[in-house]
Amino acid sequence: MSQQPSSLKIENLHVGVDGVDILKGVNLEIRQGEVHALMGPNGSGKSTLAYTLVGHPKYEITEGQISLDGTPLNELDPNERARLGLFLAFQYPVTIPGVRVADFLRTAVTNIRRPERRDGEELMSLREFRKELLGTMQQLNIDQEFARRYLNDGFSGGEKKRMEILQLAMLKPRFALLDETDSGLDSDAVRVVSEGLSKLSGPHMGVLIITHHERLLEFNRPQYTHVMLAGRIVETGDASLAHELHAHGYAGVRERHPDAAAEEQAAKIQETAAN
Ligand SMILES: Nc1ncnc2c1ncn2[C@@H]1O[C@H](COP(=O)(O)OP(=O)(O)OP(=O)(O)O)[C@@H](O)[C@H]1O
Ligand SMILES: [Mg+2]
Repeated sequence: MSQQPSSLKIENLHVGVDGVDILKGVNLEIRQGEVHALMGPNGSGKSTLAYTLVGHPKYEITEGQISLDGTPLNELDPNERARLGLFLAFQYPVTIPGVRVADFLRTAVTNIRRPERRDGEELMSLREFRKELLGTMQQLNIDQEFARRYLNDGFSGGEKKRMEILQLAMLKPRFALLDETDSGLDSDAVRVVSEGLSKLSGPHMGVLIITHHERLLEFNRPQYTHVMLAGRIVETGDASLAHELHAHGYAGVRERHPDAAAEEQAAKIQETAAN
């Protein structure tokens, strides 16, 4: 019996932040096993889409729908979405001093695997968890010592990325959204994500990579590349589109979509006036 791959569907999504319309009708479908790249100039709405997908309270859906295998997600909180198999690696990961990597992961993994668990109830067995954690760390070439560190506290760029990949490996989401910032990522950090992701992705996982780093896509070749401009996906192509954008930038995209380019310009002027 063959099972249908899961599908994460975004239909006519409009999102506002503090009363300002940011996303203006995004359509996108990601199936398990597919790798999608999302590109676009700064401020086009890529991170807004990622945060909206995982249910960040600041991002208000004003129209349209997000669904997973037909189940609407719009009203679900971030934990419920995570339990359904959605994972977001943040562009700017949080620091939680006093919480060790291993403890954080044990809680996160237990919550995902035992959706009925209430706060304060027992976590998965320490023995079972440690065995799985150490095995996964070995597979990803992450030093065992890392599990004893405090979460993101004093982590280098590369270590934050290791944490991201380790979370991904332990949580085994059906859909992984990676929002990779340009700034502050040295080549070591890019390699960590790039290699880690290529080890983890496969038929069971759908991936959306937001990145300006060509190297990340080299090892994780997208079947689809989407270009966002002024809150809409204006073009979709294959891996060669990502390559073209890396090589030549967005001038061509703006030329091909003058209406969106004009909206982008207008939003910039508004923003400057507001500040
Ligand atoms: N929390 C917020 N409050 C106010 N405006 C916001 C907020 N988040 C995003 N915006 C605005 O929404 C627009 C889209 O921002 P977003 O961060 O989604 O862009 P991006 O495509 O991820 O850009 P980058 O490539 O720089 O990461 C920008 O104009 C930004 O100023
Ligand atoms: Mg962003």
